[in-house]
Amino acid sequence: MSKDTAHSASTLPLARPDVTSHERERVLEVLRSGRLSRGPALEAFETAMADRCGTAYAVAVSSGTAALHCIVSALDLAPGAEVLTTPFSFVASSNVLLYEDLRPRFVDVAPSTYALDVDRVAGALTPRTEAILAVDVFGVPVDWPALATLADAHDLRLIDDACEAIGASVRGRPIGAWGDAASFGFYPNKQVTTGEGGCITTDDADLARRCRALRNQGRSQQSSGRMRHDRLGYNYRLDEMSAALGCAQLDRLDTLLDRRAAVAAMYEEALAPLADGVARPEPTDDAERSWFVYVVRLRDDFAPGARDQLMDRLQARGIGCAPYFPPIHLQPHYRDRFGFAPGDFPVCESVSARTLALPFFGDMTRADVDRVAEALTKILPTLPRQP
Ligand SMILES: Cc1ncc(COP(=O)(O)O)c(C=O)c1O
Repeated sequence: MSKDTAHSASTLPLARPDVTSHERERVLEVLRSGRLSRGPALEAFETAMADRCGTAYAVAVSSGTAALHCIVSALDLAPGAEVLTTPFSFVASSNVLLYEDLRPRFVDVAPSTYALDVDRVAGALTPRTEAILAVDVFGVPVDWPALATLADAHDLRLIDDACEAIGASVRGRPIGAWGDAASFGFYPNKQVTTGEGGCITTDDADLARRCRALRNQGRSQQSSGRMRHDRLGYNYRLDEMSAALGCAQLDRLDTLLDRRAAVAAMYEEALAPLADGVARPEPTDDAERSWFVYVVRLRDDFAPGARDQLMDRLQARGIGCAPYFPPIHLQPHYRDRFGFAPGDFPVCESVSARTLALPFFGDMTRADVDRVAEALTKILPTLPRQP
């Protein structure tokens, strides 16, 4: 969305970062200090992330994709090995497997959480399966206890794409502390932003060390001054301005999350009369979600194409919305490369065709929410239904 559109009086954007004057000042302090990369803000940000996630290590990087890529690369899986993953996610969660010459093996999602359906995972294992990469999509946690048991039983590595789920937990254990390692993303639509940025959390000292090397051209930590590059690496470093913003945002993470939860509660109330028209994903009883986006799904009796009509009409009223997420297996690159076709993962495809994200950010007002609810109330009865 362009800056002009996002700020025009009549437009309600899909997302808006919450950055205070104190946070702007923290970034300016870095600029005044002259130390713009590899400095104290990075270290402080990593300490705060590890604290928050309850892990021994955190490695901050330049994006959520970079975080996931480092994890996948650091695990040293065999070339061509299969990784079980979800087709209902942002495309980055599968792309990182292709970067490392691994084969994504998609498993359909659960209709309640929209996350990897753990009951289907065992049936998808093959002798070439080496890992599971699950995604806490929209901040709704995967069934991590069940997945961890399964991974243990089959000696598989377990990766959490937690880019959308900072602050979520399962059985009181924070997202970030499940699996071998987790990735977080801090793009401006996320609960916490650093502009662009990401982070790996893990309890595995060796994995953390390898991720640190990978983000800095494969340079070993002992090599200071000697430019020794033990393995192929990347420039995935996070600059000090971004890290300082991240520190300040993490300082008030609970407030940021509470505000988003309060907006979600407003939506819940305002959309209650439409409950027979729209549904939304729900976490399992032992999990607590972190509100990333507010998505609704048109119920099954709406005709195919109704969601797109709804989006056109909301956008015509200046209400931002987005089709989160198109199935990864049906993206042209994946169809061309692997021969995927419609019908391969029916739950994912059905959820994907019927789901849309509505405007959602921490300082949304009741009037903003009511404006969306009123538009939905007017438009829903006019949408085509199944014959
Ligand atoms: C589930 C998921 N994985 C990975 C990413 C990649 O993060 P980034 O855009 O910071 O590279 C995102 C970001 O939107 C995401 O939502």
